[in-house]
Amino acid sequence: MSNYHIKHLEEYFQVYRKSVQNPEAFWEEVAEEHFFWRKRWDRVLEWDFTKPEIKWFEGAQLNITENCIDRHLRSRGNKTAILFEPNDPGEAAEHITYRQLHERVSKFANVLKEKGIKKGDRVIIYLPMIPELAISVLACARIGAIHSVVFAGFSSTALATRINDCGAKMVITSDGSYRGNKTIDLKGIVDEALKQCPHVETVLVAKRTKEKISMKNGRDHWLQPLLDKAYADCVAEIMEAEDPLFILYTSGSTGRPKGMMHTTAGYMVYTAYTFKNVFQYREDDVYWCTADIGWITGHSYIVYGPLANGATTVMFEGAPSYPDFGRFWEIVQKHKINQFYTAPTAIRALAKESLDFVTKYDLSSLKVLGTVGEPINEEAWHWYNDHVGDKKCPIVDTWWQTETGGILISPIPYSTPTKPTYATLPVPGVQPALMDENGKEIKGNQADGRLCIKFPWPSIARTIWGDHQRYKDTYFSAFEGMYFTGDGALRDEVGYYRITGRVDDVIIVSGHNLGTAPIEDAINEHPAVAESAIVGFPHDVKGNALYGYVILKETGESRDRDNLKKEINQMITEHIGPIAKLDKIQFVPGLPKTRSGKIMRRILRKIASKDTSNLGDTSTLLNPEVVEQIMKESL
Ligand code: WTA
Repeated sequence: MSNYHIKHLEEYFQVYRKSVQNPEAFWEEVAEEHFFWRKRWDRVLEWDFTKPEIKWFEGAQLNITENCIDRHLRSRGNKTAILFEPNDPGEAAEHITYRQLHERVSKFANVLKEKGIKKGDRVIIYLPMIPELAISVLACARIGAIHSVVFAGFSSTALATRINDCGAKMVITSDGSYRGNKTIDLKGIVDEALKQCPHVETVLVAKRTKEKISMKNGRDHWLQPLLDKAYADCVAEIMEAEDPLFILYTSGSTGRPKGMMHTTAGYMVYTAYTFKNVFQYREDDVYWCTADIGWITGHSYIVYGPLANGATTVMFEGAPSYPDFGRFWEIVQKHKINQFYTAPTAIRALAKESLDFVTKYDLSSLKVLGTVGEPINEEAWHWYNDHVGDKKCPIVDTWWQTETGGILISPIPYSTPTKPTYATLPVPGVQPALMDENGKEIKGNQADGRLCIKFPWPSIARTIWGDHQRYKDTYFSAFEGMYFTGDGALRDEVGYYRITGRVDDVIIVSGHNLGTAPIEDAINEHPAVAESAIVGFPHDVKGNALYGYVILKETGESRDRDNLKKEINQMITEHIGPIAKLDKIQFVPGLPKTRSGKIMRRILRKIASKDTSNLGDTSTLLNPEVVEQIMKESL
């Protein structure tokens, strides 16, 4: 029996038991099976959740790109590694073979070296979903530079915060990006951001939209001429198992974004293992994940996991609605996609449109459907199952996080019977626990609590870049000796998990995690605003939308309210990005606060959700009269 590829439920339980009884032997066997190590590890695992410190495969040496590319050259050199589908359906798709990927990554890596990037340096990548994005990620990994991809929908301020937080010397971007029928001036956003980032020495610019942009002499370089001159081979830097691979920022419930740091060996082993099992990838399959590489889903399940398995992975530049709502299905038909992985928000948006957009296309190539990013509601699950999967494709509802690096709870297709809205069972090696409010573990089935993980898995983030204390406080302090996910979950009578949503001040809007504090900070910068509070409320496409309660300063009272609303959303767009715009803004005289001055968000959430029949305990409120007024004027 191989740990590597689970094929039926009994086997899952056997493998799972083994993985829990002896995790080290289990992961050692996985690591031995399919990877190329420059040097074998001395110890499989060393950990202490109280510090917290986690080390996997210590003593091992490797380079992840040798595992994602070089290892496949002999048997899969002419196989498509990356299949690029452009925004415009009229533009030809590009098939990049493993051999071509090897050459392009090597050349790019040599350009990075020529521009002074060395092992351990941080490189910010701010690119649209074009091949250069995956290639630059791999080029960094080739030479041991730490990549930090910033989703190209973030604003210049958000970009600058991330550049400065990790102290990047280089930014890789493009002249612009396409999104449906719009073009976005990415280079202009980078220029704006770099006014606040004096230590960035080099900007490499890929050509995409061919719009006119400005290039700063000495700092900015077009990428292509450098690549044309670069040598086509680049020896991979030998990395230690625990050397950082990348930093990826995620929103926290408070303050600045958290730079989650992932390291090399454990991340590789875990993403490869889960990719193979959760998607049941077979050699000639074509796999498509619609996420952006700017998010963890793209890192783990567009780039590293698939390539480590020698898979063909699709990169899609465009939007599901362009040129019409059939685009996803047109691509599935065109490239005969076998595994399709997307987000509930996309499913809900497409389910609202005519079914003709789906039925028009031949989707018979599909074998496995996946979903990630937020709880999937029952209706969306059935629509996906009935109309996309034709009731023949198991749906893998994969629960995981930027912090976890890979999928932790998910059905294994054709093995685990699926159940709508349930992420079902933990991946082998993952030990979930549900905790009650007093910090005690709730044992047995039919439980409801806060979701924690008791034991490390190989791809857990090792720290928050530059702030280990915050890492400890956020994830390892709420429940002693456990990793706290920030999510609530319930366990049914057979032990299946259903994720019920965030229990902290992170709101997931269209699958994007947004912290309330950074949005409030952005709003409060408006000269007319005294204070604000953001909560989420249910939205039929986005899952959640944002509702802002805003107290104006006296000087703001006379201003036109509609203009103020526009300006507030403009502030948010500038500070964070359009994804964080508010759907509703209510101007209020005050906010419900406890005697200790804490905003009672629970009440605001109820009002925003129009669920005011029972506001719960309000006895600690300092200003109950304000609640009445907010309710009366609610939107
Ligand atoms: C939520 C995305 C329910 C959850 C990989 C988690 C989910 C947060 C699911 C992490 C799912 C992700 N069902 N909720 N299948 N997958 N979530 O860091 O609240 O962008 O904590 O990672 O998304 O979002 P992140």
